Amino acid sequence: MSEHHLKSFLNLQKVSKAYAYGRKKLFAVQDIDLAIARGRTLGLVGESGCGKSTLGRLALSLERPTSGSVFFEGQDLINVHKSDLRHLRRKMQMVFQDPYAALNPRMTIEDCIGEGLDIHQLARGDERQQRILELVAQIGLDDTILQRYPHEFSGGQRQRISIARALAVEPQFLVCDEPISALDACTQQHIMQLLRDLKRRRQLTCLFISHDLHATRSIADEIAVMYLGRIVEKANADVLFNNPLHPYTKALLSAIPIPDPVEEKKRVRIILKGEPPSPINPPEGCPFHPRCAVAMPICRSVAPPLLQIGGGHSVACHAIT
Ligand SMILES: Nc1ncnc2c1ncn2[C@@H]1O[C@H](COP(=O)(O)OP(=O)(O)OP(=O)(O)O)[C@@H](O)[C@H]1O
Ligand SMILES: [Mg+2]
Repeated sequence: MSEHHLKSFLNLQKVSKAYAYGRKKLFAVQDIDLAIARGRTLGLVGESGCGKSTLGRLALSLERPTSGSVFFEGQDLINVHKSDLRHLRRKMQMVFQDPYAALNPRMTIEDCIGEGLDIHQLARGDERQQRILELVAQIGLDDTILQRYPHEFSGGQRQRISIARALAVEPQFLVCDEPISALDACTQQHIMQLLRDLKRRRQLTCLFISHDLHATRSIADEIAVMYLGRIVEKANADVLFNNPLHPYTKALLSAIPIPDPVEEKKRVRIILKGEPPSPINPPEGCPFHPRCAVAMPICRSVAPPLLQIGGGHSVACHAIT
C-alpha cells in the first residue's frame, strides 16, 4: 500500500458506480479520485442527479462500487471482512436530508439517540444515560425531550436529534447529505453553526453534500464540484469562490447573489444552455461540452482528466489544462 493511502483518512481511487437501466448502464459516479485528510471537511456540490448521494454512500461503504477502491484509515473497505466492516461502520455515520426518515417513529428520543450505543455495546445503565444527556446538551436541546417521540418535534429539532444519534457512537467520519435543505433559512443557520462547532470540537472528518454553495463554503475546507458523475473542479473553498476555473463552476457561482450591493450590481449571471444531459446517454468527450460557452473541437471527443494546476487546485477542462 502506498504512503498516500495511509496519510489521507479517506481515499477513493478510480471509483465508479453503474446502475442497470434496462439494457443500458447508468454511471452515477465515474472514475472518481478523492482524498479527505483527517479533521478536514470536503464540500461536494453540483446539480440534482450528478451523483453526490451515490458518492456519499460509496464513501461510507453502504454501496459497493462497480470498480475502484475505497480506503478508510488505510483499510480497504471493499475487501474487508464482514465482521471488521461492522466495527468500522461505527466510525462512519451519515446525517440525511430528511431528519424524519432517520428516526424510528415508535422509539422515544432517548432510544433513538441511544440505539447505536446499544448495538455497539458502548455504554449501559447510568453511563448510557449520561452520554445521552451530554449529547442532548451539545445539540442545544434539554433533557425534557427524552421521553417524547419524533413526530412531536419540528424539522430543525429532528435534525438536531438525528445529528445527536449519529454522534452517539463517536464517529470519526460523518457524511452529511443535504442536512439543511428541508429546513427554513433561520433553522439552516442554526444547524450549520451546530455542525461547525461539532466539527471543531470533535475533530470530525466530514463530507458535506449540498446544493447550497454558501452553506458549503461556511463549513468546508475544500470543495469539489460534480457534473454528471465526475468531479470537474476541486480546490480550497476560498480559492474556488475567488478563482473558479471550470466553466461549470463559474456558472454555478454566478447564480449566487452577493450580499454587498455594489458587487451584486456587477454580478453577471451565466445562464447555462439546456438541462444537464441524462446520465443514461452521456455526451461523448467532456460531459459539459453541450452546455459550454468555450467548448473546442477536442471537447466533443476527449474527456478531460482532472489535473492539478498547483496549490491543491484541480480542474478537468481542455481550455485550462
Ligand atoms: N439505487 C439506484 N438505482 C438506479 N439509479 C440510481 C440509484 N441511485 C441513484 N441513481 C441514479 O444515479 C444518478 C445520481 O443520483 P444521486 O442520487 O447520487 O444524485 P444527487 O447528486 O445526490 O442528486 P440530488 O441533488 O437530487 O440528491 C441519478 O441519475 C439517479 O437516478
Ligand atoms: Mg442526493
